[in-house]
Amino acid sequence: MADETERNSDERRRVCSDLTEGSPSPSTSSTMEFYEEHAKRYFDDTVVRMPTEAQEAFLRELPAKACILDAGCGSGRDARRFLELGHCVEAFDASPRLAGLASEHIGIPVDVLRFEDYQTRPEKYDGVWAFASLLHVAECDLANVIGCLAASLRPGGVLFASFKIGLGPTVDDNGRAFTNLSPVSACLLVQNEPLLELRRLWREVGQASLGATADWLYLIARRER
Ligand SMILES: C[S@@+](CC[C@H](N)C(=O)[O-])C[C@H]1O[C@@H](n2cnc3c(N)ncnc32)[C@H](O)[C@@H]1O
Repeated sequence: MADETERNSDERRRVCSDLTEGSPSPSTSSTMEFYEEHAKRYFDDTVVRMPTEAQEAFLRELPAKACILDAGCGSGRDARRFLELGHCVEAFDASPRLAGLASEHIGIPVDVLRFEDYQTRPEKYDGVWAFASLLHVAECDLANVIGCLAASLRPGGVLFASFKIGLGPTVDDNGRAFTNLSPVSACLLVQNEPLLELRRLWREVGQASLGATADWLYLIARRER
């Protein structure tokens, strides 16, 4: 079974590199260059904008003292709130400078890690929180990354993720590349991961970073077994 999962992952990676050869993908260096170069400005801009409703929807699914992974934590705003609420929190981000700022803000070490290099931490977490972060993973890598995050959940654990609503990849004026999803493609993404069951999918027009607004798709999926 483990061999088969590994073979499937390798195959997904191979297909992804075939598909993205020569074309920009959301994990392009320009995305990471943006976060590195503008880390302090990005931190200041986002640390104060608490996504309270989405947090509450996620927290309602968790036990009282949950073990939470903030994946792509940015400023560490959400990780810090979860910690203050009495949960146990781990966090990572691909940007070394943001991870440093987040670590200072939360008061815990923050790993410098890319989703694409994330290795399953079997059944470790009650919740994985990926607020506006998985959206920077190339569409063809997403299934594999979500599979690793799902396998890191305890049975009954939940994954929260948010994406901008749209079709396929886009690059914004800052050079950041995004994988956008339609509600249907988000459903399919979850349905295709055997460990997960979609609990809730909803849209919200809300703030994006640096003064922009966006049409957001929020999803909560539960690991059923
Ligand atoms: C739009 S920000 C969201 C940050 C935070 N979750 C929040 O809500 O404020 C996206 C974050 O994902 C991180 N990121 C981008 N690509 C990543 C990748 N491939 N792996 C892990 N983190 C990544 C960026 O460094 C940035 O902190």
